[in-house]
Amino acid sequence: MLVDFNDMLLKAKKEHYAVPHFNINNLEWTKFILEECEKLNIPVILGVSEGAAKYMGGYVTVTNMVKGLMTDLDIKIPVCLHLDHGSSFEACKKAIDAGFSSVMIDASKHPIDKNIKITKEVVDYAHERGVSVEAEIGHIEENVSSDDIKDTNAKPEECVKLYENANIDAIAPALGSVHGFYKGEANLDFETMKKINDLLPIPLVLHGGTGIPNEKITKAIECGISKINVNTDLQSVWSKAVREKLNEDSEVYDPRKIIKSGEAAMKRRIDEIVTLYNTKL
Ligand code: 13P
Repeated sequence: MLVDFNDMLLKAKKEHYAVPHFNINNLEWTKFILEECEKLNIPVILGVSEGAAKYMGGYVTVTNMVKGLMTDLDIKIPVCLHLDHGSSFEACKKAIDAGFSSVMIDASKHPIDKNIKITKEVVDYAHERGVSVEAEIGHIEENVSSDDIKDTNAKPEECVKLYENANIDAIAPALGSVHGFYKGEANLDFETMKKINDLLPIPLVLHGGTGIPNEKITKAIECGISKINVNTDLQSVWSKAVREKLNEDSEVYDPRKIIKSGEAAMKRRIDEIVTLYNTKL
């Protein structure tokens, strides 16, 4: 059964570890992640961007695919199916209606009051249906240097305002992390992270989990991060292994063999990531 993220993240916050959010791209990706997390006996959040949902056919297809895999593979760990960066109320509603167990509404490009208004609309709809909601504040950028984005970092008083007015279940404050590969060193604002964590009873989410040095991940978890989003990291590990396979075997044409050639590397990397996060059931 799919679950919302509340129980898994509140426990992580209390016990100082992080739950992985791995973005999924297709059936095999989902299968590899579920199998590895079941083997390690840890909870997992399967993140689906609007683009990935569209790529896989739509929210209903994704929900049924995940539920089908969980039944056929006899998956017993808690699994949360989560819309990543929902851009509007309508997108979140579609995911919720299709059976997603949590959503992120990303209205972070708007000024704070409009962010609150849109987020609250999603929360009201989601909570009535037992679905948890993550919101973003400040703005998390893509493929830039941490040093270029200080202006878009989250402010503690605005985080409190968003939490108190929109009743969200988790918050993703922009604090220097970026999506995709970093240009230069990841430079996270741990002081503000800790301040926000001390002010709020809800879990904090770190986006852009790829390419942050291990010691900074550990420090972020100490400062209150309970959910870490990872996408590019697994994509790059998987594609490297598949590229090697294609380079060394010019005869291979069966897509199952090609896609599967990235499985071992991806599972190994999942293992390393969750060991670093100290993820527990
Ligand atoms: P990365 O692609 O940098 O790992 O970021 C993933 C993410 O934050 C998805 O929301």
